[in-house]
Amino acid sequence: MNVGIIGSGTMGIGIAQVAATAGCHVSLYDANDIQTEKSLSDLRKTLAKLSAKGKISAEKADEVLNQIKPCTEISGLRNSDLMIEAIIENKEIKTKVFAELENLISQECIIGTNTSSISITSLSSELKNPERVIGIHFFNPAPLMPLVEVIPGLLTAEQLPQKVYDLMKSWGKTPVISKDIPGFIVNRIARPFYGEALRIVEENIATPEQVDVAMRTLGGFRMGPFELMDLIGIDVNFSVTQTVYKDYFYDPKYKPSLLQQRMAEAKLLGRKTGKGFYDYSEPGNTKDKARIGDKQPPNDLQRLIFMRIMSMLINEAVEAKRLKIATDEDLELAMQKGVNYPKGLLAWGKEFGYETISSTLQNLFDEYQDERYRQSPLLRKL
Ligand SMILES: NC(=O)c1ccc[n+]([C@@H]2O[C@H](COP(=O)([O-])OP(=O)(O)OC[C@H]3O[C@@H](n4cnc5c(N)ncnc54)[C@H](O)[C@@H]3O)[C@@H](O)[C@H]2O)c1
Repeated sequence: MNVGIIGSGTMGIGIAQVAATAGCHVSLYDANDIQTEKSLSDLRKTLAKLSAKGKISAEKADEVLNQIKPCTEISGLRNSDLMIEAIIENKEIKTKVFAELENLISQECIIGTNTSSISITSLSSELKNPERVIGIHFFNPAPLMPLVEVIPGLLTAEQLPQKVYDLMKSWGKTPVISKDIPGFIVNRIARPFYGEALRIVEENIATPEQVDVAMRTLGGFRMGPFELMDLIGIDVNFSVTQTVYKDYFYDPKYKPSLLQQRMAEAKLLGRKTGKGFYDYSEPGNTKDKARIGDKQPPNDLQRLIFMRIMSMLINEAVEAKRLKIATDEDLELAMQKGVNYPKGLLAWGKEFGYETISSTLQNLFDEYQDERYRQSPLLRKL
């Protein structure tokens, strides 16, 4: 299969590696040739390291690299059977590139987009043949994270989601099919992991460290919300929340946090700037300090933090189930394979007892009188 990838940044090169590893011929194009050279040189180093560690053979490393052909012109993608676009997250720029591509590629070529937040329907609607456009949303780093959300828009051909689903399986990925809604599955359901944690800190109930310790020790999450926001980038996480909030017509459930906005304004963006909720100026120091609390027995504050965040997350998963954003199985898989949650949220809700989740949310609603804490109509019926 010939796969054309547009955009050779973080995601584009990762997707190229996945496709090449699966044996596809990959053509990689970026408006910035230097970016493509840099990404390919980084990939060469990564593959050399993997082969030195015995994770892949030297032959396989060479094979993967040889399968990826850089192109300096977009016309180099002409013979693709599948295009995956991974350029800047900007609707106008993406639409312009699609229009250019449409005149170049064959009628049969599928156009996939790796957008995190732009509606697939809106990206396809300007094209002559919108039926061939579909969301193929990889998670970062693409070669390591198994999840791929496959997202048909309203105009996508009926049989295309299954075709792309099967293809992703053959690439060794864990695909799930999602409706074309803001944030798709993962970026929608995961919002309270960050949003509720930020609220707790804004209200001076706990510090970021206390929240992180609670979520790690009581929930078994690999990272707490604040260390994860520091890793993702405070600006990136804030912008996803803003988009989801706006696209749900300002639903209070997704209201962004002022604290996060101020952090972004101050360029306290996390690991990439050396300081976010934690200070990374002394390497190794922060993580060890923050994890001291993991060895202490859990206390009431930690239980309160944990139940508040978990109730919000489970409520969100139940609402996604009610709206049939995806099958129950895909909702569970998505959170485990896309963001490493230790369990699916529906299973977790069952374990807690949905009545407990419902009463926790009711108490929060009574206290704050905020629509943010409204329950999914399905929660009380489960
Ligand atoms: N980074 C993530 O964690 C992540 C995860 C999932 C999805 N995404 C989505 O993937 C897409 C790419 O994100 P990224 O993080 O790889 O970005 P990036 O900034 O690392 O790379 C984007 C690349 O696109 C190129 N580009 C910009 N305009 C172009 C054009 N008109 N034609 C050709 N190339 C062009 C840029 O030169 C750049 O190299 C975005 O839609 C993003 O929302 C990102």
